[in-house]
Amino acid sequence: KQPLTITKMKKMKQSGEPISVLTAYDYPSAKLAEEAGIDVILVGDSLGNVVLGYDTTIPVTLDDMVYHTRAAARGARQTFIVADLPFMTYRLGKETTLRNAARLMQEGHAHAVKMEGGADIAEEVAALVQAGIPVMGHIGLTPQSVHQLGGYKVQGKLEQEAKQLVEDALALEAAGAFAIVVELVTEPLGEAITSALKIPTIGIGAGRSCDGQVLVYHDILQYSSPYRAKRFVKTYADLGTTVRSAISAYVSDVKSKAFPQEEHSFPMDQELVKHLYG
Ligand code: KIV
Ligand code: NA
Repeated sequence: KQPLTITKMKKMKQSGEPISVLTAYDYPSAKLAEEAGIDVILVGDSLGNVVLGYDTTIPVTLDDMVYHTRAAARGARQTFIVADLPFMTYRLGKETTLRNAARLMQEGHAHAVKMEGGADIAEEVAALVQAGIPVMGHIGLTPQSVHQLGGYKVQGKLEQEAKQLVEDALALEAAGAFAIVVELVTEPLGEAITSALKIPTIGIGAGRSCDGQVLVYHDILQYSSPYRAKRFVKTYADLGTTVRSAISAYVSDVKSKAFPQEEHSFPMDQELVKHLYG
């Protein structure tokens, strides 16, 4: 099986086949996502929250992203991998943006990069695309700007905001982005953005009309995700409970000496045992 291409993703929008996207941050999570048939893996800077334990994505570094992208890429060699450019690794000029994006591809083995912003980053997006680096946009609730936005709130509820978000989406498309993540906007705005574009929208908390959906690995699996249940997440397993009770059973087995048993131990020749240890 070959990884999906950005050409195929545009065709999927045209034919109405939804694009499934899930985050993954290391070898086992990426391997399981690939084996389960996911279309695209996103190595999101949400790893700051769910893997590194930060309160926001702001402390995540480019080195963190390279390290995790490389591990995920080793686990999913047949899957299209997008890696986030973290906070302030773009917007400092085209040359810096190009260098940083190149690291995610050359060292991280990503197929594409994602960056948060709209018309304001269109020039940087165009420079990346011209250099052969596919770019996924990200508009709506952009977590790297959480302090500017004043919290994790639904975006585009006011007329001016809603119009601006459509403008941003069109600017990203014109700059050559191959897809756009639309995060935490009202369902009608998600639909308006999706129908304004030829490139696919990948929604997260953006309603039913987007061309694809993305969720965070630790959220759908309830794998010790640090946040309370979010309206836009659907959970498919409770790994937190499963893992915690498995580890607690291991602890009591060690304490009670129920583990290890003979079957977990390595025998020695009986004659030699007698000779050595009487
Ligand atoms: O970092 C991330 O996981 C993301 C998705 C939630 C879109 O940007
Ligand atoms: Na992100």
